[in-house]
Amino acid sequence: MTALKDEESALNFIVTAVYDKCRIRLHDGKESLIRARLAKRMRATGISTLTEYAEFLRTKANEEEWTKVIDALTTNYTQFLREQDHFDFLVKVALPGVMARGQKRFQIWSAASSTGEEPYTIGFFLNEHFPLSGGWNWSIAASDISTKVLASAKQGIYAKERIESIPADWQHKYLQVGQGEWAGHYRIKPFIAERVQFRQINLIETYNHPEPFEVIFCRNVMIYFDRATQEALVQRLCKFLKPGGYLLIGHSESLHGLQLPLRCVKPSVYQFV
Ligand SMILES: C[S@@+](CC[C@H](N)C(=O)[O-])C[C@H]1O[C@@H](n2cnc3c(N)ncnc32)[C@H](O)[C@@H]1O
Repeated sequence: MTALKDEESALNFIVTAVYDKCRIRLHDGKESLIRARLAKRMRATGISTLTEYAEFLRTKANEEEWTKVIDALTTNYTQFLREQDHFDFLVKVALPGVMARGQKRFQIWSAASSTGEEPYTIGFFLNEHFPLSGGWNWSIAASDISTKVLASAKQGIYAKERIESIPADWQHKYLQVGQGEWAGHYRIKPFIAERVQFRQINLIETYNHPEPFEVIFCRNVMIYFDRATQEALVQRLCKFLKPGGYLLIGHSESLHGLQLPLRCVKPSVYQFV
């Protein structure tokens, strides 16, 4: 490939490379978004034009720089108790249905967990319905492609405006109030935080889990992928589900028309059959 000479070829290179690395398609019309989101990387590397920065990515950038590019270009919006009916379904229908009689141990996976609100919300609901004090033993695997959101998720510290969707009594039960320089911030209490293990997983690559999950949350990430990528991704997720286990996807996502070993229970809720 010859050197990138103008902004159009620079943008094409970035769009293609990001698609190859994580299947996120930066559609036409996203040029200003790419430029704005990469401005910080350009400053950090001392490069002033997008064409030069793309050429730097093409010829010299290491994996660390690429991780920062993916971090900058991915959309990480999330919220505590987002799409709450999934959490109610988890504790009232999915887990009671999929667990064998007498089974007290189970695992949930929050794939594409962003800054941690989703896996911690799962923790709140599990604690309410399957308390460790009642002999239950559960853990939550959480993963994301972005090292930046994973670092923040592991910290488990949130500003006041980010915890507002948590009911007041749960805020009291599950969050520590920050003092001094942490005033206005809240931290997930250790008895929940220690049940969640975060790790980096790119969902389009191969990965492993030692045991299958009762339920997988893979919400609001497939929306960025094309149909072929979605199908391959969900096929792979099914390999990590217990028979009868559930896959929950975002409310605005659908697996309609894909060839998958799943039964649609209701919109955005699928069961592995
Ligand atoms: C909009 S957030 C969704 C967070 C949460 N699941 C929710 O529904 O609130 C999408 C997340 O997907 C992650 N992501 C994007 N591409 C990915 C990939 N190929 N593998 C794993 N995670 C990916 C992004 O880093 C981002 O944190």
